[in-house]
Amino acid sequence: MSYHNDFVPHHGIRAPRAYLHTDAPRLALDGDWRFRLSPVADTPDDFAAPDFDDSGWDTLAVPCHWPLRGYGNPWYTNVVYPFPVDPPHPPEENPTGDHRVAFDVPEDWAGRRVVLRFEGVESCAKVWLNGAELGFFTGSRLPAEFDVTPRPGRNVLAVRVHQWSAASYLEDQDQWWLPGIFRSVTLEARGDLDDVFVHASYRDGQGTLLVDAPVPATVSVPALGISVAAGEEVTVPVEPWSAELPRLYDATVATDSETVRLRIGFRTVSIEDGVLLVNGEPLPLRGVNRHEFHPDHGRAVPYETMREDVLLMKRHNINAVRTSHYPPHPAFLDLCDELGLWVIDECDLETHGFVFTGWERNPSDVPEWRESYVDRMRRTLERDKNHPSIVLWSLGNESHTGANLAAMADWVRERDPSRPVHYEGDADCAYVDVYSRMYATHAEVDKIGQEPGMPFLQCEYAHAMGNGPGGLAEYVALFDRYPRIAGGFVWEWIDHGLRHPALEYAYGGDYGEPLHDGNFVIDGLLLPDRTPSPGLLDVKKVYEPIRISFVDGRVTVEELRPVPPLRFEWSAGAESGELDLSSGSAPLPPVDGLLTVRAVLASDQPWADAGHEITWAQHQAAPPDPSVVTGSDRPQRTADGFSFGAGEFDRFGRLRAFGGLAVGAPHLALWRAPTDNDRGENAHLDQTWHALGLHRLTHRLDGVSAGETLVVRERTAPAALARGAGVTYEWASAGDGLALTVSVEPDGEWPEPIGKLAITMPLPASIERVTWFGRGPGEAYPDTGHATRTGRWESTVDDLQTPYIRPQENGRRADVRWAELTSADGRGLRVAGDFAFTARRWTDADLAAAKHRNELTAGDSVWLTIDVGQQGIGTASCGPGALPEYVLTLRKTTFTVVLSPVVDA
Ligand code: GAL
Repeated sequence: MSYHNDFVPHHGIRAPRAYLHTDAPRLALDGDWRFRLSPVADTPDDFAAPDFDDSGWDTLAVPCHWPLRGYGNPWYTNVVYPFPVDPPHPPEENPTGDHRVAFDVPEDWAGRRVVLRFEGVESCAKVWLNGAELGFFTGSRLPAEFDVTPRPGRNVLAVRVHQWSAASYLEDQDQWWLPGIFRSVTLEARGDLDDVFVHASYRDGQGTLLVDAPVPATVSVPALGISVAAGEEVTVPVEPWSAELPRLYDATVATDSETVRLRIGFRTVSIEDGVLLVNGEPLPLRGVNRHEFHPDHGRAVPYETMREDVLLMKRHNINAVRTSHYPPHPAFLDLCDELGLWVIDECDLETHGFVFTGWERNPSDVPEWRESYVDRMRRTLERDKNHPSIVLWSLGNESHTGANLAAMADWVRERDPSRPVHYEGDADCAYVDVYSRMYATHAEVDKIGQEPGMPFLQCEYAHAMGNGPGGLAEYVALFDRYPRIAGGFVWEWIDHGLRHPALEYAYGGDYGEPLHDGNFVIDGLLLPDRTPSPGLLDVKKVYEPIRISFVDGRVTVEELRPVPPLRFEWSAGAESGELDLSSGSAPLPPVDGLLTVRAVLASDQPWADAGHEITWAQHQAAPPDPSVVTGSDRPQRTADGFSFGAGEFDRFGRLRAFGGLAVGAPHLALWRAPTDNDRGENAHLDQTWHALGLHRLTHRLDGVSAGETLVVRERTAPAALARGAGVTYEWASAGDGLALTVSVEPDGEWPEPIGKLAITMPLPASIERVTWFGRGPGEAYPDTGHATRTGRWESTVDDLQTPYIRPQENGRRADVRWAELTSADGRGLRVAGDFAFTARRWTDADLAAAKHRNELTAGDSVWLTIDVGQQGIGTASCGPGALPEYVLTLRKTTFTVVLSPVVDA
């Protein structure tokens, strides 16, 4: 056996220890290294010799993943292993990156103990210093250190990295396979404080501190007047640490040779009567799952991007993060401590691909893998143990069950009894402290909430793939209802789309991978460039820490979680003011019409400026009058059709111009470009619709009659089926426009969900501006759009589109009373009624056919779709479909919209 196909996780590395901020001198080895890629593992390793001539090699900026720097390609799989399942053997085709770097060690390091540290290398590395082999390690997202003895002057570090190793069987997370030295490499001259372990608990206003250190040392916390010896316990009054108020105390642990700087947060995690508590209060986890991802750098995430992630989370009312599915870069945890997020720190472990062997030979239950499992947990916990933000340890993800997981849990309990153990795969909860599930239905979560048992959480729910997630508000309502339910973590934070010169963002298969899982890696709340998707805006609303409501002529505010000082602003039309809600309620301002109350930060916070909106609510005093005005125009026959007010119709009564604009006749539409959730394994609505032929409906004229109104009767039906719908379009005079009443009468049984109930019509391509009164500014579907509020909004046809990475239904504006679509010259069309709409430069068929955004190109028309019903979005791409109340079927329906010309906007 060679080191890369052995069960042994490493050889020669030091015992794991905390990641410490120390004054011991450090030398970063990041920068330009020499690099050579070989297609297989077993090539000569003569390059480790210090005098090896690497002048013919390329230069590579470390840290990085080499496939993102032009060497080979990224490869995406979700569950399947991209190599034959024969543990512990990796495949023969094993891209191997040889790295070399020369460095000088400062002279004053002479005589000091020196440690070489790798923060992350995928998937394994063998290391030589000046030609002497130091050892090897696996554990891609875990640190590894070697004791080294550099020589004065020039030293040469050589590192051989294989893309695949035995350990790849333990790293089957749903993400791109991206080999390389992707986190920093440092040299550190050690002092005597190799490790410290902070124990800082909180109870009833008192903090109890004990810091373990390997040698006698002094622990100082100036703000608390603490100066004690390491190992000595002290209790003093403190402010506790929480995600909402992340109070940190600067501290030092010092010996004569070394000072370690700590930021201590006092908090106690406990479980009482089946409720997960922090500092005696229920822990409301309103979280997201975060993979490390950057569209250019993969998991080599720049510090500024980590910070941006935490700021974006805080600004969207997210208070918790699960580090799916491995320990993140240590700096990310510092940011969670500083800015305030509850963290589930997950070990780097997943063996999901064994599901296809019926879990046979699954490493979780094979004794030869025991040491690898416990080693991974040890390296996770020891590195991260001093972060107050971490409240749960997670053994890993989707690795089924087995004695090796139980051994990890035992080790955690022994080493750190202060934090409960999480692992979703342990269905019997044999070795965990919380019951965790992923993608349980609302009904099941409701049931679990009512049953006694361990604290419950959804480590993954609300799959944010493409348009969605739908059903989010109903989940959060369940979290709020039951004390047993600590909450949940949306899957997932960001789309893993890799920037691509032709496709904009690539997903699985775009690099010609022989086996891949397509766009299942595009399932985040952020688009790859970190633009918030509508889903993230919805998360912000449903995760609101306070709730504003309107009861009995008063505005009331309920605090769901602690919040920084807020200001409450109201507005109604041109009027606005401030509300004093310090007592929890205030009289409604004396205004008619639509009242909006916004809660904004009263002062700057480390994560947002004063004025940042936390949440809002609206109150409609008197609902608008929906009545349609009448008019005196009557349809007139012309040489080749009808003229009726602003409308010109052909002899079949089909609209061809309106207010001077060349437009097409509206027709019934029942299909939408399937969303990822419509395509999802738990819905297959795309297949249902395809089988029904909803995407290729035909329209047959059954009659046209002109009297006071113009009435056109059609039968709309798909080829091959006997069922269809009778549709009557009745045009009537209405002010300076025409009222169109559409009556739909199903012909035959239509039990299946349909995409939408709508009419769609082409407008001239010159249409570009869109103004509407309704919900906005973003998109909304029956079970999404919590972030949208009623108002007058302006946009453009182009900006109405939500640029989902894999094109699909998007951009619907809901609860609209009127919309105006106009060209640059101000001319266009106004639609009034009670409807939702989309406006696009392509058809639904174009949208459905496109695999990437670059395939969507403007056509000859702007397609306006006016709907009075859409199927809910749900999360069937991974989870339940739309709740029953959001399922749309074809029923007898009548609706009216009034079209009028806009002559000057
Ligand atoms: C879960 C898994 C995640 C991700 C998700 C679907 O089963 O834990 O890693 O694959 O499904 O996107």
